[in-house]
Amino acid sequence: MSAGPMNDSRTNDSRTLDVATIRADFPILEREFNGRRLVYLDSAASSQKPRQVLEAMDRYYETTHANVHRGVYQIAADATHQFEAGRAALARFIGASDPEEIVFTKNVTEAINLVAHSWGRTHLAEGDAVLLTEIEHHANIVPWLQLQQERGIELRYIPVDDDFELDLTDLDRLLDGVKLVGITAMSNVLGTIPPLRRIIDAAHAAGALVLVDGAQWVPHLPTDVAELDCDFFGFTGHKMLGPTGIGGLWARREILESMPPFLGGGEMIRDVRLDGFTPNDIPWRFEAGTPPIAEVIGLHAAIDYLDALGMDAVRRHEVELTTYAMEHLTGRFGDRITIHGPADPTTRGGVLSFAFGDLHPHDISQVLDQEAVCVRAGHHCAKPLMRRMGVGATARASLYLYNDESDVDALGEALASASDFFAF
Ligand code: ALA
Repeated sequence: MSAGPMNDSRTNDSRTLDVATIRADFPILEREFNGRRLVYLDSAASSQKPRQVLEAMDRYYETTHANVHRGVYQIAADATHQFEAGRAALARFIGASDPEEIVFTKNVTEAINLVAHSWGRTHLAEGDAVLLTEIEHHANIVPWLQLQQERGIELRYIPVDDDFELDLTDLDRLLDGVKLVGITAMSNVLGTIPPLRRIIDAAHAAGALVLVDGAQWVPHLPTDVAELDCDFFGFTGHKMLGPTGIGGLWARREILESMPPFLGGGEMIRDVRLDGFTPNDIPWRFEAGTPPIAEVIGLHAAIDYLDALGMDAVRRHEVELTTYAMEHLTGRFGDRITIHGPADPTTRGGVLSFAFGDLHPHDISQVLDQEAVCVRAGHHCAKPLMRRMGVGATARASLYLYNDESDVDALGEALASASDFFAF
């Protein structure tokens, strides 16, 4: 299966990652627990931050902190300049030609809620259908369930098959009468990368708009929203080396202009009278109140960091490491380990959800923690998918640019200890 139009073969960039040098940029990776180095395998939940990001935020607070879009004095103008430069950098990073099509949000959850509550409330009526998939994060299900309760919209789901890929057999039927398709670019549980372009083309042919949840994609692969031809695209900074509390929604200008503000307050208005208000232009009409200024500056530094490495190189590194991890773990533990997700490491992400013997995922995570190996355990905010898989929870190791084979080996050693401890 192709990773779609945002694949890693469109440039001749042959850079490789120097993981030892990269690791030295991440202060937290110098920490030790129980005499062991920290092995961080939970970047799908949140990535670690390089010094460059931390320093950019400190520098802003130490030298140019002031509110944005308000003061005319020098440091306020500097702050505004840096804030809007962050928007422009982000637009370029995801392939958007117009920075004003980027709305800053707290995260993808807020981006999807903005679409549901603003676009959804004005464009969807009782009986209108929204098509999602069985592999969505709760963030791309619950806002639509809320709209279903409020408006009586119909929700449909593209099923996932037993190979952990979307089953598109009935796509045309499912799309009939649909107004919006909401789909993840990469599953946070399975690493599945759906054939986005095929689904987007089919959705457009059926007259539907498409919202893509890019939370797990943007940190790991080159992104080009123009080439992808979607209508809404959400992303979050904290999974791509940036700080928490900053993410965004990209949408085409005419769509954003058709949407009323969601939150009301300062900044989002052009005029306020006692009997009404006139909203600001896009994107500021969606950014009520003082925005996360330092966070935008930190995210800009994260983008610079990723750009310097090259997203093609990041993707190649992760494919190699995912290949190694899948081979190493299945080679070492045989049928004692089950990795949930597509079998081909070249067409999936480096998110390895697994079952190990009959150990509860939380026990696995706790035992691994004794060896300073951090993995997530739980339902990963994807309870409908857990039900479809017939499990209550999984353990999940997720790989990023600062991981290498030694981290996978440490995971293997820690799992072997767990196996010894629980005697299976
Ligand atoms: N959505 C994040 C995860 O999958 C938090 O872990």
